Amino acid sequence: MSQHSDINDNLNSTDTTDEQTPNSTSEPIDIDNSTNQEIEPTSDKHIRIVNTFMKRRTHMNKNAELALTAPEFSEYLVNNSFGDGDLTGIDNLRTLFADSPNGPDAPLTVEIGFGLGDSFIEMAAADPTRNFVGVEVHEPGIGKCAYMAGTQDLSNVKIINGDAIQLLKQLPENHIDRIQLYFPDPWQKKRHYKRRFVSPERMTIVTRSLKQGGWFHTATDWEHYAFWMVEVLDGFAGLTNKAGTGNFTERPDFRPMTKFERRGLDRGHGVWDLIYIKD
Ligand SMILES: C[S@@+](CC[C@H](N)C(=O)[O-])C[C@H]1O[C@@H](n2cnc3c(N)ncnc32)[C@H](O)[C@@H]1O
Repeated sequence: MSQHSDINDNLNSTDTTDEQTPNSTSEPIDIDNSTNQEIEPTSDKHIRIVNTFMKRRTHMNKNAELALTAPEFSEYLVNNSFGDGDLTGIDNLRTLFADSPNGPDAPLTVEIGFGLGDSFIEMAAADPTRNFVGVEVHEPGIGKCAYMAGTQDLSNVKIINGDAIQLLKQLPENHIDRIQLYFPDPWQKKRHYKRRFVSPERMTIVTRSLKQGGWFHTATDWEHYAFWMVEVLDGFAGLTNKAGTGNFTERPDFRPMTKFERRGLDRGHGVWDLIYIKD
């Protein structure tokens, strides 16, 4: 069963036979670049996008539904929040804050895959002079996050429904101060490694959109993925490991514990943070 099966039902029930053991640092990290392509050919010569997420239907609570439909929450929702997010025309995240108290030039954090949004909103509330853009594909999470932003009357939050990779490709270079990716879907099975967010190809897209001196901050509770990440990221030209090559970093005070982190800890997992600075 997927470690993270409630938000993102990555692995179906027939996929359990080759599940990996999370605590296996001795296992070699097999980063096969040929599987890190974001597109792959299909037999009919078309290409298929390899997503880092698997959308699934889950119950939407009343508050989340309210936030997705009531006008008082619309200021938080950049695009259509039901169904697949249409990212057409979203080519600048700073201008989304043009009319807000911080303005467009405030430091900008983008969180990819905020889940239900609790830790994302906690960070935004704790740092009101910084602008925060959250990107998710999970509608109940988008609704819950908008509801929390609205009930706390935050002016530094915007939420986008859609694939973060597609979004980042549309943005200018050197645009974002911090990109955070907390407890991404671990995609435990070898045949799913190509879906892991941290891959050389996807990091090219992430790094392009970061400002010089900007941070990519990630954390995982899945040990195999943690060592995979450090190998990919340490080997990535243009990024420098803040803790030194091969090292993880302590969880910084500004990162609250997330829902999936708590779940991992309850199951006896460790937690590994990594911060990389764009050269
Ligand atoms: C395992 S959950 C972690 C949620 C939250 N960060 C936490 O720690 O509790 C990963 C989330 O990332 C989202 N996600 C994965 N790939 C994404 C992408 N390319 N764009 C936007 N969201 C994505 C999934 O929908 C899912 O909600």
